[in-house]
Amino acid sequence: MQDRFGRTIEYLRLSVTDRCNLRCQYCMPASGIEKHGHDHVLRNEDCIQIVRTMAALGIKKVRLTGGEPLVRRGLASMIAGIKAIEGIMEVTLTTNGLLLEDQIEDLKAAGLSRINVSIDSLNPETYQRLTRGGDLSAVMRGIEKAHSVGIQPIKINVVLIKGENDHEVDDFLRAFDPSVEVRFIELMPIGEAASWNKEKFLDLNALFSKRTDLVPALDHGHSGPCRYYRHVETGRYVGVINSISEHFCHTCNRLRITSDGMLKTCLHDTSEINLKPYLSDVVALEKIIIEAINAKPEAHHLNQVDSNPIVRNMYTIGG
Ligand code: 5AD
Ligand code: SF4
Repeated sequence: MQDRFGRTIEYLRLSVTDRCNLRCQYCMPASGIEKHGHDHVLRNEDCIQIVRTMAALGIKKVRLTGGEPLVRRGLASMIAGIKAIEGIMEVTLTTNGLLLEDQIEDLKAAGLSRINVSIDSLNPETYQRLTRGGDLSAVMRGIEKAHSVGIQPIKINVVLIKGENDHEVDDFLRAFDPSVEVRFIELMPIGEAASWNKEKFLDLNALFSKRTDLVPALDHGHSGPCRYYRHVETGRYVGVINSISEHFCHTCNRLRITSDGMLKTCLHDTSEINLKPYLSDVVALEKIIIEAINAKPEAHHLNQVDSNPIVRNMYTIGG
């Protein structure tokens, strides 16, 4: 389906849990998050019903996010259910990778196409500090396993934070098999990071446009807000996601569903629609989704000085 601004909406990011086995500094408070009961999150059959309704409207790709999606029970059966829906071409996953080694075989068998793994440091101590306790070696084993079972491509997401991990860019460019794509993400003033000092935020456009060892990769398909380069030394694709310093809103093809069942048509807009009351009535569900797509904002205003940072936390949206 096309929205008012001619954008074809075909990509859904579905947050399947707000729980996480890490406490990344920019995402969650050290004390963790308020625990909700299980009826707070959408059930597998609700997720599948929503995706079926959206697939009829043109959604083709579904990415499962969290929190950490791998801490949710029954994820493989949800993947299988979504993959079986007519019109759904791929189901992908964004994960911190901690539980990947154990689960990736089952997830692939269920129909998972690709994964993005979030790693903000290759130094075990820095990783542990930034994630408040994460074990980098478990993540690395998970990536190896994903590679060995044929998940392709694997993408690594690195949120760059000034003074914390921005000196590790070259390590990231060289660390993995060349088939692994590395994507550097601009830190956004959301969640815990909303109250961080402005000095921690980097303008990635300025940082990467200076590098002569990265050449624009015109052969790489477009992937939403990601600008692709090729790393001359390794041949690796490298992505740069600068959603703050550059506007990609005019090509935005996505919808989001939060872990508590709210439909968001723009990450940086506060409006959201509760889908739970419509789950028993497919016609009403479709109608409300069409209305939401028609109201999708043209652009966000995050880079304006007087903008309001969004109040929701990233662990309920999943990036
Ligand atoms: N800014 C940028 N990226 C963020 N993520 C979580 N919070 C933020 C933020 N404030 C990222 C995670 C993960 C993805 C799901 O979203 O690191 O890669
Ligand atoms: Fe968990 Fe991801 Fe938030 Fe880190 S950024 S605490 S891995 S949800």
